[in-house]
Parts: sequence; structure tokens; C-alpha cells
Amino acid sequence: MTDIGIIGGAGYVGLVTGVGLATLGHKVSSMDLDQTRLKMLKNGKSAVYEDGLEPLLRQLIDINQISFTDDQSETVRNSDVLFIAVGTPSLADGAADLSSVIAVAERLRDEIRKYTVIVVKSTVPVGTIGIITDILSQKLRAGEDFDVVSNPEFLREGSGLVDFFAPSRIIVGSTSERASKVLREIYEPLLQGTTVVAVPWISPEQEIPYVETDPTSAQLTKYAANAYLATRISFINEIAGISEKVGGNIGDIVYGLGLDPRIGPGYLKPGIGFGGPCLDKDIRALVTVADENSYDPVMFNGVIRRNDLQMREVMNKISSAVGSSLYRKRIALLGLAFKEGTNDVRHSLSIRLYRALRDQGASVVGHDVLAVEEARELEPGLEASTELTYVLKGADVVVALNSEQAYEEIDWTIAGMPNRPPFVIDTRGILDLAALETAHIRFDILGSAR
Ligand SMILES: NC(=O)c1ccc[n+]([C@@H]2O[C@H](COP(=O)([O-])OP(=O)(O)OC[C@H]3O[C@@H](n4cnc5c(N)ncnc54)[C@H](O)[C@@H]3O)[C@@H](O)[C@H]2O)c1
Repeated sequence: MTDIGIIGGAGYVGLVTGVGLATLGHKVSSMDLDQTRLKMLKNGKSAVYEDGLEPLLRQLIDINQISFTDDQSETVRNSDVLFIAVGTPSLADGAADLSSVIAVAERLRDEIRKYTVIVVKSTVPVGTIGIITDILSQKLRAGEDFDVVSNPEFLREGSGLVDFFAPSRIIVGSTSERASKVLREIYEPLLQGTTVVAVPWISPEQEIPYVETDPTSAQLTKYAANAYLATRISFINEIAGISEKVGGNIGDIVYGLGLDPRIGPGYLKPGIGFGGPCLDKDIRALVTVADENSYDPVMFNGVIRRNDLQMREVMNKISSAVGSSLYRKRIALLGLAFKEGTNDVRHSLSIRLYRALRDQGASVVGHDVLAVEEARELEPGLEASTELTYVLKGADVVVALNSEQAYEEIDWTIAGMPNRPPFVIDTRGILDLAALETAHIRFDILGSAR
């Protein structure tokens, strides 16, 4: 059992990591600056939605396996290992904003009193481990007072706990044998499948690849993963664009493509593009790293360009559906979070679409199962509701943006106004086309010519 502190412990990654490590039997102190989130967490409530998270959190609080605080000094004092999970958003030029990581390191420089392993969970560009080491070395001795290792996070929002307990791999980048040993001990219960609280996500047969490498390769693996996923999305959006022009059916194309075992079906659905808290910022940060190192990332620039154009494709579809002007047209957006299964609206392209429509005078109403409050907080002018029937009623155009199951099951015969049915745009290929046809509703599917 290790005493672990999580800096940024109330965020998506910090909370899932803290809860996961506590479940493995470690004593976790989660530190954060966000007072609202901390207050909720102390009462067993989470501001971030993940399936199964709150009940597990409450169990762990009850047995004193995890606690929450805003006191970094106390967390440092009580921990042998500190995971840094603070945000690293995009700067205007696309580079990763490391100001939170640096602020944490500057405090650690003054607070560490015993050998402490600093584990960087945040997605940070190559070179950041060196920056943190340099800051700490102003007062402490690397290798004796501290070591810094990279342990990138691969969780997908919406299946965060599955990804913690049954990860596709654990990657640790370290140049210190001592720190590598500490990390192996931390993850050992997970590799053995032992926990202090029973969880449904660990299967007895699972074997988790544990990859030890250098910090540069660990960090680049994370960026490579996100750049690859972004590439698949831009790839299928490009195929969808061509398919639409030549009369193809994107659903059949995606299915046929995904059956190839060399390709597989994941991340191959066309849509409005990649947004959210990771893919866009990470591929832009990778491009910046390449530029800074005199390497021309032509392919990734193309992936970003395709993504930027995708919003225009969807806007054009909405404009042609309503005719000349969007002014006062009621547009219903189905799916406000950056994807289904999460309440995260950060950098959601649905929100960006809302802003573009609003700026042209449209009256926008949005639906989401989990993210209505978050969307309202981000965009107070956005009318948002969890009531699908209300959102659909009176809409001139309905745009399906997320693959939410509820959208597959819409009964279109009662959804639209009988006298003035909406025009429906399906960007994800999820709607029940037979039901739309039965209801005599005109529709357009991104990537299919019809
Ligand atoms: N969200 C994801 O799906 C995901 C997946 C993999 C990796 N990541 C990476 O993990 C990192 C965190 O992402 P997130 O989505 O969890 O962000 P988040 O915004 O949800 O959480 C960050 C937390 O850090 C806290 N924080 C900021 N500065 C702090 C400080 N000085 N001291 C203590 N707490 C501080 C914030 O209050 C916030 O609660 C990012 O680098 C991100 O790229 C995110």
C-alpha cells in the first residue's frame, strides 16, 4: 500500500485515477483548487459523470481509502508518490499550456521533504519531464529527493472506470530504476486483479500489457495515439464527403471497411469532426512540437484542416435545409456533450455549431441526456433540455450530433409537428430511417447521397 497524492484530483483524469488507485488499496489524498468540486466530492458526489463512479467513491470515502483537500502542502507531506493530473489546454498557437503543471512544480520545489516520485498523468509534450526536473532541481536533488516519471493516461470519457481497471496498456516512462520499481508496486494489484472493494470491471483472465520505456517515448506514445484517432475521424469524414458526391452509402462503407481486421471498426463513424478535451488539442500540440523541431507534419496538418472544414459541411447542410436564411429558424441539436455518455461540453463541436447558428440569427434548442446543466453554464443563452419531445417540437431542422441510443429510438410519427415536420440531418448515421420515411420526414445523412 502506497500513500499517494493526486494534484488535480477533482478533474476527470485525477478523479478516476484517484478512485482507481484507492480501489487497489492505496491511501489516496486528492488535492484540487476547485472548491465547488471538492465540496461535492467530500459528500460523495462527482461533478464529472462516469458510469459507476459515485457509488464506488462513496464506498472508498466510507472506509477512509480516499480523501479530498485543497491543501497541497499537506498532500505532499502525506504522500510518497504524487500524480499530477492538472489540465494542459491549448494555447492560441496550438502549443500545450503548461502553466498549471509549472505552477504545481514550483510549489513542489518548496514542499518536498522526503524522496517523492512525481508521476505526470497530464498529457504533456516531450521535454516537460525535463522542465519539471529543472524546476525541482533548483532546491532538490534529482534521484535522491525526487524522480519524475511519465505515465500517460488513455482513458476515454464515458468508460473511464473500465479503462482504469481493464486498460489496454499501462505505459511508464522513466530513467530511474528506483522510481520504476515504485510504479510497478503501485500497479501490481491491478496486474494481479486484486482490489479492496469489489468492482465489476476486472475480469480474472485479463492480462494488462505493462510497458516500461523512456519519458520521451511514453509522452510521444500518448500523442501518437490521439493523433491516430483524430486521423481516423478525418479519414472517414473525407470518405463520407466523397461518398456523398458519388452516390455511396456511408453506413455500408463504414461497415465493410471496419470488417477488415487490419482496420477494425473503431473511430470510423463520420460526424461533425473531433472536438472535446483531447483530440483537437493534442494533435495541435504534436504539430507544434514537430514544427519546433524542424519537422514538417504535412499529414497531421491535413487532418486538422479536414476537421476544421467539417463544421462548414454541417452548416451548409442546415442552410440548404432551411432555404435562404437561418434567421429565426428553430434548429434542434441532439447531443451537446462532445460525445455521448459524458457530461463534458469542453470544446464540444455541438457548442461551436450552436454559436455559429446563433450568430446567424437562428433560434437553437439543444438536447442532451447528461450535459444540459454544463451546456447552460457554458452558454447561458442556449436553450437546453433533457426532454426530447420538447426539443423536437416545432423545430425546422433537427441535427443528430451524438450517437445517443435515445436518438435511435425516436418515434418520428409523434416527434415532429404533423403539419410542419422538421428536416432531419443525421451526422452520425444513427437515426431510424424507416421511421423517418414512415413519418414522411425529409432527411439527409452525412456521407450518403439521398
Ligand atoms: N479528459 C480526458 O478524457 C483525458 C484523457 C487522457 C488524458 N487527459 C489529460 O489529462 C489532463 C487533465 O485532463 P482533465 O480532462 O482531467 O482536466 P480537468 O480540467 O477535468 O481537471 C483538471 C483539474 O486540475 C485542477 N487544477 C488545476 N490547476 C491546479 C493546481 N495548481 N493544483 C491543483 N489542482 C489544479 C482543476 O481544478 C481541475 O479540477 C490533461 O492533460 C488532459 O489532456 C485527459
